Amino acid sequence: MKTLNVDLGLRSYPIYIGQNLLGLAELIKASSQQVLIVSNETVAPLYLEKTLRAFKDYKVASVILPDGEQYKNLTILNQIFDKLLTDRFDRQVTLVALGGGVVGDMTGFAAACYQRGVAFIQIATTLLAQVDSSVGGKTGVNHSLGKNMIGAFHQPQCVIIDTDTLDTLDDRQLSAGLAEVIKYGLINDLEFFEWLENNVSDLLARDSQALSFAIARSCENKAKIVAEDERESGRRALLNLGHTFGHAIETGMGYGKCLHGEGVAIGICLAAEFSAQLGWLANDEVSRIKTLIKRMALPTSIPAGLTIEQILELMQVDKKVRDGKIRLVLLKNIGQAIITDQYDSQLLRNTLQNYI
Ligand code: NAD
Ligand code: GLY
Repeated sequence: MKTLNVDLGLRSYPIYIGQNLLGLAELIKASSQQVLIVSNETVAPLYLEKTLRAFKDYKVASVILPDGEQYKNLTILNQIFDKLLTDRFDRQVTLVALGGGVVGDMTGFAAACYQRGVAFIQIATTLLAQVDSSVGGKTGVNHSLGKNMIGAFHQPQCVIIDTDTLDTLDDRQLSAGLAEVIKYGLINDLEFFEWLENNVSDLLARDSQALSFAIARSCENKAKIVAEDERESGRRALLNLGHTFGHAIETGMGYGKCLHGEGVAIGICLAAEFSAQLGWLANDEVSRIKTLIKRMALPTSIPAGLTIEQILELMQVDKKVRDGKIRLVLLKNIGQAIITDQYDSQLLRNTLQNYI
């Protein structure tokens, strides 16, 4: 097992990465003997029983949410509060998220809100959650008008990444996670980007060494940025490379149709194209990025049915918007991302026009 640390002073916590970690009581640092496990109807039948072994001596209950991005909203969130109150869990309870990014974001947000804040643990079971959403304390739900628009920063007590859980993940979801992995290479880790180019087939074949390396390297990259800028007042926004475009596509298509990782993949392509239009990124670097994304079995083009007006309007509903101006994460080079609002809006429109 590999242990990484997210260095946040009093809110620091470990990330455990390894095989066969579900059910290991020694990894759990629950603040009391009360635990509510939150999972969904797909993950619970696969992993709830094993997870429960770690909590043999606890007062433990579980709540099983419907599965899907379309259920990541305030109405469904209430199911967690209903269970907490019905079963008389008090402020000492620890919530345990067992699932992908949707369960993780919702459980974390419920933990941030219940009785003004209780502890929680992330047990991440998708590649996307293992490389991104379980780390860093962003929690929340969607609004019909904008993705992840209701939420809170709330750090977990620990993150448990049992790579064996990836055995049951389907290929499309695995690729969606790889989009966020590619993101780290593009932001500030050229060496990792090159490693990814050389290891596509091993990753897609689920070679355990390749996957473990990619997960650990992604978590190291993320933990470093989060430690520098926990609440995204600056550098952390770089982690949103591709997300402003991607979120607009996800929301525009209707939650759950275009996977989050797929939206990010398309968004990265758009960010690269626009960076090239601005004269920052060479055209052959754009091709290199799109080639890697395609090889990872991810989409590179905007799905049919969305108009430029729709996308531009949805991009306005983004947490990086300041005083009405959309700040974008763009690329000066592979391994060198920047955040800027210094661009010609007409050029952005033209880039989308050429791309759609
Ligand atoms: P998800 O949680 O919907 O999981 C994808 C699918 O895989 C679901 O159907 C789920 O039930 C299933 N699944 C989960 N684990 C499985 C397993 N081991 N075996 C078989 N099936 C399994 O989606 P996701 O891609 O994990 O996460 C996307 C969400 O994460 C989005 O809502 C996104 O906004 C959020 N996100 C948050 C952050 C953050 O920093 N908080 C970062 C990135 C993404
Ligand atoms: N996924 C972006 C962030 O955690 O900041």
